[in-house]
Amino acid sequence: MAHCQQDFNERNQLTLKFKTMWYKTKATELMGIEYPILQGPFGGGLSTPELVASVSNLGGLGGYGAYSISPQEIYEVDKRIKALTGKPYNLNLWVSDTDVPDSGISDARYERSKQLFQPYFEEAGAEFPEKPDFKTRFENQVQVILDVKPKVFSFVFGIPSADILEEARKRGIILVGAATTLDEAFALEKAGVDAIIASGFESGGHRPSFLEKSELSTTGTFVLTQLIREKIPYIPVIAAGGIASGKGIAAAFALGADAVQIGTAFLATEESGALPEHRAALFSDSAKQTILTRAYTGRLGRGISTQLAREVLGKEQDILPFPLQTAFMSPLRKAALAKQKHEMVLFWSGQIAPILKHTKSGELMRALIEETGKFMKE
Ligand SMILES: Cc1cc2nc3c(=O)[nH]c(=O)nc-3n(C[C@H](O)[C@H](O)[C@H](O)COP(=O)(O)O)c2cc1C
Repeated sequence: MAHCQQDFNERNQLTLKFKTMWYKTKATELMGIEYPILQGPFGGGLSTPELVASVSNLGGLGGYGAYSISPQEIYEVDKRIKALTGKPYNLNLWVSDTDVPDSGISDARYERSKQLFQPYFEEAGAEFPEKPDFKTRFENQVQVILDVKPKVFSFVFGIPSADILEEARKRGIILVGAATTLDEAFALEKAGVDAIIASGFESGGHRPSFLEKSELSTTGTFVLTQLIREKIPYIPVIAAGGIASGKGIAAAFALGADAVQIGTAFLATEESGALPEHRAALFSDSAKQTILTRAYTGRLGRGISTQLAREVLGKEQDILPFPLQTAFMSPLRKAALAKQKHEMVLFWSGQIAPILKHTKSGELMRALIEETGKFMKE
């Protein structure tokens, strides 16, 4: 009996201790980090080793989106990150990195896309590129991940094979998968991942669905976080999408999250790879309106709404499959940026952009920690 009472007291004291130390969670223990704040990885050249290191050095988990770079470039990026931080960090890949059929696309299909986008190319004075092609790189990229052994390997748009997951585990790499629906979370649980990202539709960037079409996978962060926490209680859940302040972090924790992943707020800081025009747009009035569009890459992603994106809504059958549409739009992007015709350029952004305040990643990180501490104590 006395034993029971002692156990009870010890448990209570432990609970009390954890309540005051809001930042000690299953996720921080798993990843060996101090604060349960992940900097969302960005593909397409928007991640930088400097941003990763600045977040990791302050006790969070910096993340580098490597899907759009070659295996050799991943080695170089990893070397640079290791030179800037001795703390844990995350390398991120897209498991499915192409929607192009093996036979490529027909000339007729390419002509249809040219017709759809002709008025924009004409207005910007851009030339159509040659018909693009693409071969998957995931298998070669993932070999580099296994080689360089980041503390965390996160992935989107699917689940790597059981063999790859096993090889990663053998090397002590923590595996983090992203779900846009509860069914995707179940699939990740079955594969034995260490943590699940609840990727809500408020998020900036691509919607990384892999079981249903992304248009049919539009659950918000707070619903998805609760569903995953309730149905898969033993795996840490990382809430991602629409979080950019201590209030947002505290709210995600109240709903059962063990950590948060923040993208847009870090993208807006000087340390990211975003163009100055992009950062300015995130702090401007235009960030009030975001849109989910396939117009710029072929896959559904959220950015600041453009006239072009609105005008091609419903005409997706004439948009090239990912990632050919990215290559196709590249000359238009260059020309439109040079002429400051920003109504044609997609600046990636989540819905939360209008509350952003910080232009330096260190200041953002410190503010997030301090604000969250305040809300968790009240
Ligand atoms: C420009 C941009 C690119 C992104 N690229 C990736 C990526 O390559 N891999 C990934 O897992 N998540 C990617 N994300 C998602 C972020 O890592 C993060 O989960 C998301 O931005 C969180 O939502 P928030 O933007 O509302 O903060 C990207 C987000 C943005 C804004």
